[in-house]
Amino acid sequence: MEKLNLSALAFLCIFLSSSRNWITIQAQSLPPAKFDGFLYRSGRVDPDAILIEAFYDPVCPDSRDSWPPLKLALDHYGPRVSLRLHLLPLPYHDNAYVASRALHIANLLNASSTFPLMEQFFKYQEKFYNDQTINLSKASVVKQVVDFATPAVGNFLHSEFKTAFNDRRTDLKTRVSFKFSASRGVYGTPAFYVNGFALPDVGSPLDYNGWRKIIDPLVSAKFDSRLDLLHTKF
Ligand SMILES: *[C@@H]1O[C@H](CO)[C@@H](O)[C@H](O)[C@H]1NC(C)=O
Ligand SMILES: *[C@@H]1O[C@H](CO)[C@@H](O)[C@H](O)[C@H]1NC(C)=O
Repeated sequence: MEKLNLSALAFLCIFLSSSRNWITIQAQSLPPAKFDGFLYRSGRVDPDAILIEAFYDPVCPDSRDSWPPLKLALDHYGPRVSLRLHLLPLPYHDNAYVASRALHIANLLNASSTFPLMEQFFKYQEKFYNDQTINLSKASVVKQVVDFATPAVGNFLHSEFKTAFNDRRTDLKTRVSFKFSASRGVYGTPAFYVNGFALPDVGSPLDYNGWRKIIDPLVSAKFDSRLDLLHTKF
């Protein structure tokens, strides 16, 4: 028997292990060792950059539609704006959790494949809609996702990718993403925070001009305040 950890809030979730017939009490270690989310273009970011946090579900059409204009805006601002992507697999999208877990696995196996794989999920999203997969078992959806995802990550990683779906740690990472998003009060996707503050209109994509309207004043405010400081006589 696994040791039962009854300590306090760790006690969030009880599940039946399907392979064995005993009940495991899953102790979740929170906070996680690493801040949740995937940094876009990591390495090319000004530490003072304006931070956009996007909360996406890889099989949500509105998340999909919001990505091209956001990407365009990120290209426009370059290192002045950084993006951290958080995942919120929505419970009414049957394959959201598996797709989110695939992104975590991709990030672990080949970090630079994370965003390309997300774009691939967006491009072929219909394959993983509820109606499309209604007659499929969970196992066959996972197999489909593995086959779908490995070309982006590296074909030679196919068996590692498959094995990672049986590794409890990738499940925990995906749970942490869910918990992180929920703890920030996010209940729909896409949702955006800018420098820690929520933008209104959860669930509706912003267009490119919408992003410019939000970010332009912040970029110039930052620049102006630096100038003001330089011209202040002490
Ligand atoms: C990692 O993923 C990127 C993006 O899909 C790809 O270009 C690169 O070849 C992959 N790396 C390896 C070692 O396969
Ligand atoms: C699912 O199975 C039902 C009953 O066999 C069938 O009518 C339906 O077309 C199937 N749906 C898909 C998407 O395969």
